[in-house]
This record gives sequence, structure tokens and C-alpha cells, in this order.
Amino acid sequence: MTQNRILIRATLVAVSAFLTGADSAPDRWSQAELATLQSLSLEELEPIPSDPTNAVAGHRGAAALGERLFFDTRLSANSAVACATCHQPDRTFQDSIPLGRGVGVTSRRTMPIAATAHAPFLFWDGRKDSQWAQALGPLESEVEHGGTRALYAHAIAAHYRAEYETLFGPLPDLSAVPPSAGPLGDEPARAAWAKLSDTQRTDVTRVFVNIGKAIAAYERRIEFGPSRFDRYVSVVSAGHSGRGILTKEEIAGLRLFLGPANCTQCHNGPLFTNNEFHNTGVPARPGATMDQGRLAGATAVLRDEFNCRSQWSDAPRRCPELEFMMAGDHALGAYKVPSLRNVAERAPYMNAGQLATLDAVLDHYNRAPAEAAGRSELRPLRMNARELRQIAAFLRTLSGPIVVNGRMAVREAH
Ligand code: HEC
Ligand code: HEC
Repeated sequence: MTQNRILIRATLVAVSAFLTGADSAPDRWSQAELATLQSLSLEELEPIPSDPTNAVAGHRGAAALGERLFFDTRLSANSAVACATCHQPDRTFQDSIPLGRGVGVTSRRTMPIAATAHAPFLFWDGRKDSQWAQALGPLESEVEHGGTRALYAHAIAAHYRAEYETLFGPLPDLSAVPPSAGPLGDEPARAAWAKLSDTQRTDVTRVFVNIGKAIAAYERRIEFGPSRFDRYVSVVSAGHSGRGILTKEEIAGLRLFLGPANCTQCHNGPLFTNNEFHNTGVPARPGATMDQGRLAGATAVLRDEFNCRSQWSDAPRRCPELEFMMAGDHALGAYKVPSLRNVAERAPYMNAGQLATLDAVLDHYNRAPAEAAGRSELRPLRMNARELRQIAAFLRTLSGPIVVNGRMAVREAH
């Protein structure tokens, strides 16, 4: 009897050791691997960096005004387009279509906005160096909001006078400024702009710049919340098995992502981006004009009327990013490395929505086709269909809520 019990217990121990061994093997990480996993966890993300070029970046009232402006369609040529037309909060602040649609159609895909306060350069080609300077781009773009800076200054005077003046001081007298005028508008708008005095142009541009600074104060508060992957890292870091959080397939995909597929060469850190520009040979959209990518963006940001060194910056002498910016021949055909957080929620993919699904993206990395411009940095992965499926499964674990002002903006999609 006793012998029997001992035997049964011994068998149970052996069986469970066998089971745990077989079960936890894919879940066992070396110290070095654990350190890599932790480096990708949201817990490792630095606090939102300050932006000395925007004096109201941390101002609550500016963020509240910026939020209203972000959703206000009156800031457009046809009173129908707001930032939120393309950057929709319930779609992780993008639009799920290949090319953005405002008063016209853009030549690139709408980018999500969460955590862009951490990015030294904005847009697929990095042609802007702050969130506030970035926001001024779509407002004056003929295919996005399609308006002029005079139109926007008048809109502020008509609808936001009190809020604006509390933050930025008295609005200038705009009574002699025509309803539409700006250096980038259509022919009549440019002619009207040329007729303004220097003082009028400066006055209008200052209001325009402050719109960007208020919107940036709001955008800074749009962040990623923790995903299943982050919960996994926290559990395995505490020495427990994370098998209840990630499936075997997802863990296998994670191993491939870190190891043989070498995705972390570019998609690293808590945001899964090195914040740099790389050429990955993504084919151009059929019929698209030649896109130089970062090569053109690097030139544009140095010349930008609103860059860190400009008269509109609140810290024109503190511009290390511009100063040490690298752009050479390798910039041709290179694009900003996107964050992979919430990536499964926002097909289609790449700078012009060229690839429809995550499977198509992985097929691209597997084949590493010849580049459209410049030189692709990719080498074919030569993985089998199962391995590609595993990596795609892992990418789906990076979805979490989007958090605005410390609160969940939208419920987690999965
Ligand atoms: C017509 C659609 C559309 C509208 C309207 C629009 N955007 Fe965008 N947004 C885009 C597209 C397309 C891109 C990428 C463009 C590029 O790289 O050339 C982009 C890029 C961005 C980025 C860069 C993100 C990154 O990671 O670099 C930010 C931030 C942004 N938009 C904020 C705004 C704000 C603020 C407004 C309103 C003032 C706005 N957008 C209006 C389509 C739009
Ligand atoms: C050499 C740097 C580099 C490597 C290595 C790399 N990526 Fe990328 N990744 C990029 C760049 C740059 C883009 C955007 C390219 C474009 O739009 O033309 C991108 C885009 C993506 C996208 C689309 C995201 C979006 O919002 O459009 C996914 C998904 C992705 N990468 C996953 C991976 C995976 C998985 C691996 C490993 C198999 C990997 N990447 C390896 C640089 C890299």
C-alpha cells in the first residue's frame, strides 16, 4: 500500500517534470534574452521628453485647446476636414486606408500618432523636427486641410479668442487681413499674401504657429497602453511561466523576431523603433512618382521655416537633433521605422499602404525584393510558411489600448 503510494507519487513527479519540461521549454529565456525582452517592454519607456521649442508643450490649457482644434473641421478650406478626419481616435489615430483623404488625396499613408512625442523627426521622410512644426504641414497642404494661414488666424479670432488670449496674449488686429492668404496657397492666396506688410505676415504666422503648439500639447498626451506582450515580459521577469499569457506559437514568433529574423535591428526599444530611417526596398505604388524618402526629408527639415532653429522656436539654440542629423546617400529611398505597437490594428502597411496585410509584410521581408530607389538593407530570410505565421502571431500580441491624458481613449481592440 505504502509502496504503491510512493510509486504513484514518484510517477506523478516524473510525469509532471516531463510535462513542465516539455511545456516550459519555449518559455525559458537566458539572462541575456530576458534583458532584451525587458528592453522592449513599455515599462522601460522614458517619460515623455520635454520640448523646449514649444513653451506651452506641458500646459494643460494648451492641450485642451489643442484637442478641440484637432477635431475642428472649420480649420479647412471646405469646412469638412479636421486632423481627426484622417487620425481617428477609434482607429489608433489613423484611417485604415492606403492614402489619406482630405480635400484631396495624399501620396502617403496616414501615420498613427501615439508616442510621437518621443520621435525626433516626424513624417515618413522626417521633414519636420517637432510635433508643433509637423501640425502646420497638413493645415497648409493643398490635399489635406487645403486652407491658408490667414484663414486659420481668422478662425481662431472668430471661435477661440478667449482660450487663445489666455495662453498666448492678445490676438493681433486682423481686420485688414483678407480671409485667405498664405505663402503656400493657390495663386490668389499667394498674391494676397504678397500684398501684406511684414508686420501683418508676422502677426498671422504667429497665430498659425501657436495653433501648432496647442495641437502638439494635446498630441503629447496620446500614448500606448500595455499590451499582452508587456504583461508577458513582466511575468517571465518575475520568474514565472508566461504560457498563460502568450501561446506557444506567439512565443515561437517572438524568438524568431529577436533571433534569426533580426527584426530588432530596426524595431527595438519599448516602441519597437530605433527612430531612424532605413531602406527596406518596399515597392512604390503603381503609377506613383519617384519618392526619394529621407533624402528629400533631410533637406526639407534643414530649410523648414518652422524648424527648431527658426525664429518661431522657443529654444532656437537647443537643437541637437538638427545639428547632428545624418543624411547621406543611404537616405535615398529610406523611410521612418514605424513603431510596431498596435500594428495589427492598422492595415494596410508601409509608407503608401503598399502592403495589405501582415502576411504580405512578412512575405516582403522573407523575399527582400530589389529596391525601388537607393539600396535595400534587407537580405532574404528564407523562412517557411509556419515560421512566418509565428512572427505574424507575435506581432498581434503588441496590441493594447491607446491612452489619452492618462485615460484609455478607446477600449482595447483584442
Ligand atoms: C488628409 C489626411 C490627413 C489629415 C487631415 C492630417 N493628417 Fe497627419 N498624416 C497624414 C499622412 C498621409 C501622414 C504621412 C505623410 C508623409 O509622411 O508625407 C501624416 C503624418 C502625421 C504625423 C507624423 C507621425 C509620425 O510618426 O511621424 C503626425 C504627428 C500627424 N500626421 C498629425 C496631424 C495633425 C496634428 C493634423 C491636423 C493639423 C493632421 N495630421 C492632419 C494624413 C493626414
Ligand atoms: C533595416 C531596418 C528594418 C528591419 C531589419 C525590419 N524592419 Fe520592419 N520596417 C522598417 C521600415 C523602414 C519600415 C517602413 C518602410 C516603408 O514604409 O517603406 C518598416 C515597416 C514594418 C511594418 C509595417 C508597419 C506599418 O505601420 O506600416 C511591419 C509590420 C514591420 N516593419 C515588421 C518587421 C518585422 C516583423 C521584421 C523582421 C522580420 C522587420 N520589420 C525588420 C525597417 C526595418
